[in-house]
Amino acid sequence: MKDRSQAENLLETWIKNDALQYHCRMVAAAMDAYARELGKSEDEIEKWWQAGLLHDLDWEAYPDEHPNKAVDEILPEHQVDEEVIQAVKAHAPDRTNTEPTSELDRYLFACDEISGFMNAVALMRPNGFDDMKPKSVKKKLKDKQFAANVPRDDIYKGAELIETSLDDHIMFLVDIFKRM
Ligand SMILES: [Fe+2]
Ligand SMILES: [Fe+2]
Repeated sequence: MKDRSQAENLLETWIKNDALQYHCRMVAAAMDAYARELGKSEDEIEKWWQAGLLHDLDWEAYPDEHPNKAVDEILPEHQVDEEVIQAVKAHAPDRTNTEPTSELDRYLFACDEISGFMNAVALMRPNGFDDMKPKSVKKKLKDKQFAANVPRDDIYKGAELIETSLDDHIMFLVDIFKRM
């Protein structure tokens, strides 16, 4: 992948649902921001951004195979970097038998479900992400009826994988998402 527009085209080809596209862009923005925060090179930043943008690429067309169809076929066919493919594989350990190990894997895992959850919280609030506090997100996490399809365990596991507190993780992400 030479530039961002190529990855954007891939996203728009495979995902027509606006909410799912937005989810992918949120995770991409989170990954870009974390890569910068960690002082990665421009090359690395691109990989982290791409992993976020493309992690759910086959979800709409192949929900049962996700993410294996992307990992085995679509991403290699588009010369996506091996490290990015590995991270996409490891964001769904239950479906791929691959746990997140590299730093890129771990950050992708940590940014995925929490982004979806925080977006659900933002949609309920008059000001969206503005003035969103970790406390209100954590309160919603304990409410099992709210966004019931989001696996809470993966959110806690994600924060552990990147060795941060859930509060700090949420505050970092609020800052990114409110500028989207
Ligand atoms: Fe996924
Ligand atoms: Fe996702």
